[in-house]
Amino acid sequence: MNYQEAYQKLEKYGQLHVLKYYDSLDESERTELLEQVENTDFSVLQYIERREAAAGNGQIAPIGAMELDEVEARREEFTRIGLEAVRQGKVAAVLLAGGMGTRLGSDDPKCMYDIGLTHPVYIMQRLVENLMDVVKAAGVFVPFFIMTSDKNHDKTVSFMKEMDYFGYDPSMVWFFKQDMAPAADYSGRVYMETKSRISTSPNGNGGWFLSMKRSGLVDKLHELGIEWLNTFAVDNVLQRIVDPVFVGATIASGCACGAKTVRKAAPDEKVGVMCLSDGRPSIIEYYEMTKELMEAKNEQGEPAYNFGVIMNYLFREKDLERIVDEVLPMHIVEKKIPCIDEDGNPVSPSEPNGYKFEQLVLDMVREMDSCLPVEVDRAREFAPIKNRTGVDSVESARRLCVQNGIEL
Ligand code: UTP
Repeated sequence: MNYQEAYQKLEKYGQLHVLKYYDSLDESERTELLEQVENTDFSVLQYIERREAAAGNGQIAPIGAMELDEVEARREEFTRIGLEAVRQGKVAAVLLAGGMGTRLGSDDPKCMYDIGLTHPVYIMQRLVENLMDVVKAAGVFVPFFIMTSDKNHDKTVSFMKEMDYFGYDPSMVWFFKQDMAPAADYSGRVYMETKSRISTSPNGNGGWFLSMKRSGLVDKLHELGIEWLNTFAVDNVLQRIVDPVFVGATIASGCACGAKTVRKAAPDEKVGVMCLSDGRPSIIEYYEMTKELMEAKNEQGEPAYNFGVIMNYLFREKDLERIVDEVLPMHIVEKKIPCIDEDGNPVSPSEPNGYKFEQLVLDMVREMDSCLPVEVDRAREFAPIKNRTGVDSVESARRLCVQNGIEL
């Protein structure tokens, strides 16, 4: 893209300030900036004005979950079905690790964070150890896909190599990168990270299958005969990955996807909640829960919306291919966005200063025809690390690991 074309594109979206320092840039910086303008989708900025409507939820109703007692009663049957699918090579693990982990406040990718007390225990190490449980039980390595973003790809890949994949078989590990979106101030003006770079951030975890497709890995899924994909977040250090019971329960149910859920700790706990939206299985984000929904009761007098998702889903591959081109709702999230000020000096904000644009994996559930919410024991499977201290933190996750006999 040449200067003239970039000018026209930016003018159309009211973003001409991007070229403010163009004349002072050297040749390679100019090329870099023009390329970035060409590759950036500025149309996401329009969602700021429509943000109330952007992620609308439809008519909400309760959905049942397979609860712990039923899971226990059928544990053997589910384990057998799940392990068989894993042994036949039909199930893959997909780690969604493209996020920036700004709340944790480390410059390194979240997976490199050391939660050890007496010796190093990296978050990635915990995930691989958890995945190894099914590898040992099934006697085969599970194909393991890792999504990164421009911001953390190189560090994540070299960390895995340096750590020898924590004992995993490197020939069963594939990395792919997600897309980026521009980040803007509250009025919709994109921020500049440097004089020659627009501030960007990963575009949410909802685009993972599209990014997999773009990187050619869907062909790999076909080649390997993968029928089910277990996507999971980087930050829950206790989660069971490709858990045979969960895989077996979802397959046995005939549903197109399964979602691991926990009974909410409090009505206002910050987890997305399973529900029906206009009759379809769906997840309502915690910040979209009204007081009415939080207080609603079912026939047994229990909270009607009581099963929170822990970002561990099992999707049927052929259904993902069916929905891959569907446009998911856009979530506009307030975040701290590093940028330069009017005089070109770098700024690291300590408070949120604008919006990022994200599509979320939870919205993919709504595109599926059916979903089985499966309850898991939160004390044994839910130790998310979002912050350094307090709720959902390194501290709380350490406590839960120790309770579960994990040496830190
Ligand atoms: P979070 O919602 O915790 O976001 O991600 P985050 O960006 O990692 O952290 P904060 O909000 O800045 O502190 C939940 C999961 O989704 C992944 C994260 O890596 C994590 O596993 N994710 C998030 C992506 O893969 N891509 C994204 O664009 C955003």
